[in-house]
Formats: sequence, C-alpha cells, structure tokens
Amino acid sequence: MDSILVVNYSYTGVSRRAAQLLASHQGWPLGIVEDIHPRAGTRGYLRCMLDSLLGRRPRVHYSGPRPEDFRTVVLIAPIWMYRLAGPMRSFLHAHRLRRVAVIVTMGSAGASNAFAEVQHIIGKAPLATLALTAREIQTGSGTARLLAFGDQLRSRRAPTGMSAVTA
Ligand SMILES: Cc1cc2nc3c(=O)[nH]c(=O)nc-3n(C[C@H](O)[C@H](O)[C@H](O)COP(=O)(O)O)c2cc1C
Repeated sequence: MDSILVVNYSYTGVSRRAAQLLASHQGWPLGIVEDIHPRAGTRGYLRCMLDSLLGRRPRVHYSGPRPEDFRTVVLIAPIWMYRLAGPMRSFLHAHRLRRVAVIVTMGSAGASNAFAEVQHIIGKAPLATLALTAREIQTGSGTARLLAFGDQLRSRRAPTGMSAVTA
C-alpha cells in the first residue's frame, strides 16, 4: 500500500500536538503508543529517565491501523535523557518497519542519538528526520517546518537522507 501512517508517543502532550497537526494537515491516519503503566508524578518521571539511561523497552499498548500495512511510517516522539523515549523504542522493536521517517520533539538536544537508534533498530537509515523544540511546537514557530516536512515526504522529493534538521 502506497500510504503514510503517523505513529505518536507523547508524555506531556507536545509530540501529540505535532502528530495531530501533521496527520490532520495531510489527511494521514494517526496511531497512538501508550504506556501500559502510566507515568504519574515523580516516580513516573524517574521511570522515563531510567528507561533511557538503561535503554529499556517499557510495556506499551498501540492503538491504530496496522503499521505493516503502510508503505511509510512517520514516528513522532520526545527525547528523554538524550535518547529516544522508551515507549517508542518498544513500539519499534514490536513491528517490522522498513520505511520510516522520524520527528522528535525536545528541549534542546539529543535528536541525533534518537535518529541513530532508529537506524540501528530498523537496520537502515530513516527516510527523513526532523527535530523540533517543545517551544517551537508550543508557540507555533515550528509549524511551517513540520508541515513542509510532511509535504516533502508526500511528494518524495527527497526519498533518502532528507534531514530537515538534526541536533
Ligand atoms: C524524563 C525526561 C527527559 C528529558 N530529556 C531531554 C533531553 O535529554 N534533551 C532535551 O532536549 N529534552 C529533554 N526532555 C524534554 C522533552 O524532550 C520535551 O519537552 C518534549 O517536547 C516532550 O514531548 P512530549 O510532551 O510529547 O512528551 C526531557 C523530558 C523528560 C520528561
């Protein structure tokens, strides 16, 4: 199937906002990765940090269309401790995906580690990568870059190595 699915994990809502914007703008379906054990309070926050520091794969629940039925999957997730958020790591290990684009949201740094981890898990470089700060999503100043990324992906003007921003 020549189609694109957006898959999102979000802890505090920033990446969710970016995913909803991209999916609704392009008319792409959105799948959601959620924690089986909610990360409430300080313990939840600490668990986020430990998941990253230890490279753990926390248990997750995915709801949405079957990712393997799509030609391309766009992952949108936050950075935790300079790494890909653990729940997205779990999702990636649970599915055999070959054509993946990656968008991360972050405070300021860690995107390149996350892109490298995705490449390691799926065994090939992501089609395209984009790093946005939480501030860019919250203020809307990153919206144009986010939507342009989707447009480029759709038109496949840069099918390999289209790195809009890496940090
Ligand atoms: C446990 C934890 C660790 C984080 N580590 C980093 C980090 O290493 N680098 C960074 O730039 N931002 C870091 N952040 C900030 C988030 O990546 C950023 O706020 C992101 O946009 C949150 O996305 P979300 O609302 O979808 O969860 C961290 C946030 C949390 C909760």
